[in-house]
Amino acid sequence: MKTLGEFIIEKQHEFPHATGELSALLSAIKLGAKIINRDINKAGLVDITGTSGISNIQGEMQMKLDVFANETLKAALEARGVVAGIASEEEDKLVIFDNQKSHHGKYVVLMDPLDGSSNIDVNVSVGTIFSIYQRVTPVGQPIQESDFLQPGHKQVAAGYIIYGSSTMLVYSTGCGVHAFTYDPSIGVFCLSHESVKFPEKGNIYSINEGFYSKFPVGVKQYIKYCQQEDQKTNRPYTSRYIGSLVSDFHRNLLKGGIYIYPQTAQYPNGKLRLLYECNPIAFLAEQAGGKASDGYQRILDILPSELHQRSPFFVGVTQMVNDSEQFMQKDSQ
Ligand code: AHG
Ligand code: MN
Ligand code: MN
Repeated sequence: MKTLGEFIIEKQHEFPHATGELSALLSAIKLGAKIINRDINKAGLVDITGTSGISNIQGEMQMKLDVFANETLKAALEARGVVAGIASEEEDKLVIFDNQKSHHGKYVVLMDPLDGSSNIDVNVSVGTIFSIYQRVTPVGQPIQESDFLQPGHKQVAAGYIIYGSSTMLVYSTGCGVHAFTYDPSIGVFCLSHESVKFPEKGNIYSINEGFYSKFPVGVKQYIKYCQQEDQKTNRPYTSRYIGSLVSDFHRNLLKGGIYIYPQTAQYPNGKLRLLYECNPIAFLAEQAGGKASDGYQRILDILPSELHQRSPFFVGVTQMVNDSEQFMQKDSQ
């Protein structure tokens, strides 16, 4: 059985100029994940469910576990001294790490510390999403927003942790997607799925159909297409929606499907945040042979202008995303 720690070191040796800093960073995320996992498992027993009473910059009420997960990951990342700063769903602005070592950190991390937090109180799977870039400002100088506002294709690594029926850490450094299942009895993530690929064809579509009337015509038509009978393309597809991007994506990755959060009347640019939700998931999707789009263009090519920028999101099996894009394009003609 190979552990995540062993796997990271093994991969590091494949890069002759590797300094071990990225390995240290991934190991900090691993530690943060274990702590968050421990506390999520106790939800219901101790006073960590429910809202914190404070809203984040996006006007969304923070849950106690949102705040806890953010603080945990922030502390774990700062302690290693390889990260110069972070941006997070739960932080208004970027956070520059203050210690001397961090000024020389070559990486910045963007994260959604707890994804799907409305599911915490009802014992449904939640996740953590992370995205890693090399800074563009010279090492030793204070980092700036430009270090974070890089297009997704510049990501050095990305991944997520899913706190589900088992806890898994899934990540990519650009050489495929690898998944590790946590064994709580020994406190170790063990390699369980090496080089994960989307199935060639999928038959699951995941979208919050409650907002159907508020969707663009292209999305409405694609949903109808998913529901039509056609033996050749294995339709009708089945509908599955958890309401936690990590969990919905994870299922669709393993079983074959598409996840869509389009622009709606309430969210004209979609709901999901480009930098710490769409980009890291898009990076994993492409690494797994899938595709990620905003309905018209590749997610990883979008040049961001704001930390908390939103984007419509279509991600999953390449063929399914292509089909949905065709409906979007027809609609805009
Ligand atoms: P978060 O908990 O980090 O704010 O993210 C929630 C996101 C995403 O995970 C999920 O897919 C989507 O919001 C669900 O939104 P709806 O409730 O509008 O379907
Ligand atoms: Mn989220
Ligand atoms: Mn979140």
